[in-house]
Amino acid sequence: MNHFDYHEGRLFAEDVPLTRIAEGVGTPVYVYATATLERHYRVFCDALGDLPATVCYALKANGNLGVVRTLADLGAGADVVSEGELRRALAAGVPAGRIVFSGVGKTARELTFALDQGVRQINVESEEELLTLDALARERGVPAPVAIRVNPDVDAGTHDKITTGLKENKFGIEWTGAHTVFHRAAALEGIRLMGAAVHIGSQLTDLDPFRTAFTRLRDLVLMLRADGIHLETLDLGGGLGVPYGDDVPPLPNAYGAVVRETVGDLGLHLIFEPGRVLTANAGLLLTRVVRVKEGATRSFVVVDAGMNDLVRPALYDATHGVRPVVQPVEDGYPALAKDVVGPICETGDTFATQRVLPPLAAGDLLTLDTAGAYGAVMANSYNGRPLVPEVLVNGDAWAVTRDRPDWDAMLAGEHVATWQTGPSE
Ligand code: LLP
Repeated sequence: MNHFDYHEGRLFAEDVPLTRIAEGVGTPVYVYATATLERHYRVFCDALGDLPATVCYALKANGNLGVVRTLADLGAGADVVSEGELRRALAAGVPAGRIVFSGVGKTARELTFALDQGVRQINVESEEELLTLDALARERGVPAPVAIRVNPDVDAGTHDKITTGLKENKFGIEWTGAHTVFHRAAALEGIRLMGAAVHIGSQLTDLDPFRTAFTRLRDLVLMLRADGIHLETLDLGGGLGVPYGDDVPPLPNAYGAVVRETVGDLGLHLIFEPGRVLTANAGLLLTRVVRVKEGATRSFVVVDAGMNDLVRPALYDATHGVRPVVQPVEDGYPALAKDVVGPICETGDTFATQRVLPPLAAGDLLTLDTAGAYGAVMANSYNGRPLVPEVLVNGDAWAVTRDRPDWDAMLAGEHVATWQTGPSE
């Protein structure tokens, strides 16, 4: 149930026909459904039952102000990884007291900004960062609220590029030495040691890696307790997968059960950082067919969205559903496989390979589904293409929440060098 359904052969976002958005804003454009965001947030919270928890939405999945505001209004906090994301979360209305600041490369300037804003927790990823933060906090005379991210050396079984919990990965503090770092942190005057954090990867479709990682965290908490170090929070990260293509991810309830089984009895406040599971199915990329081109061995459907708008297929070999916005009148269309490709000058600019689709012609609208997470946020202007706009739908209302830049805006802030200002020869 994602609120992108057909009514009389035409695809709608909630109560708005996608054809109307395409006419009003042009294509390509991302479209998000408020009802889906609300539903996913509630399902996730319900799965946690009565566990004391704060859900800090991972803004990196989708930082659109309208999307973040929707989740903030439901009570979500935010997990941010840069000053830019922190400013974005605050602009969308997330209170600083519900913001967790994560990331492996936070600069002193970013840490200072986070302290100034009074964020709930800073997840530290190295001893060096801990010492920098300690010094900054001591200068200000207010201890920094800190959780230490550990690297539990667990294989998340996901795509190599989004696995984060192996000892070969750059994230967190190495498992075997973590204990010492907690002791060190507890003794630092500028640090208020709040808790421990893990995040082992993204798009997990199996619960076992979560179970192993959370159990390791549990062991650590108990070991520290025995030493007299009492943590208040456990941050279990994000990572729950969504159904792309053939992936069958576990349901949030099953994930909640693993949390309860592993760390539920520790009496700690739990923090979660879900991104994809809240937003992926709440968004699609709406695109128009530019032309259908018959190659020597393939039929290519060239659309006006490119890998610069949705990079996941090119970067992670990700599968996204493709649907026609207007269904063919007759059912029995010839089941011909086509490649859906963008206009970018790279073969990687391919959204679907040999996908069976109804007959298509220039001007037809298509959707690239499950694109609400890691879609617009990873978009860029490669090949001189304007950044893709975004639309939020709520019932029969819709609004552009990020404009498509015009040509002047695209060149704003760019200059030739001062010595090049004369006429070109
Ligand atoms: N917390 C931390 C510390 C993270 O690094 C991430 C994601 C999350 C939470 C949220 O994870 P999620 O619940 O969304 O799986 N661009 C890639 C995904 C990168 C994920 C990076 N970290 C993709 O398109 O698949």
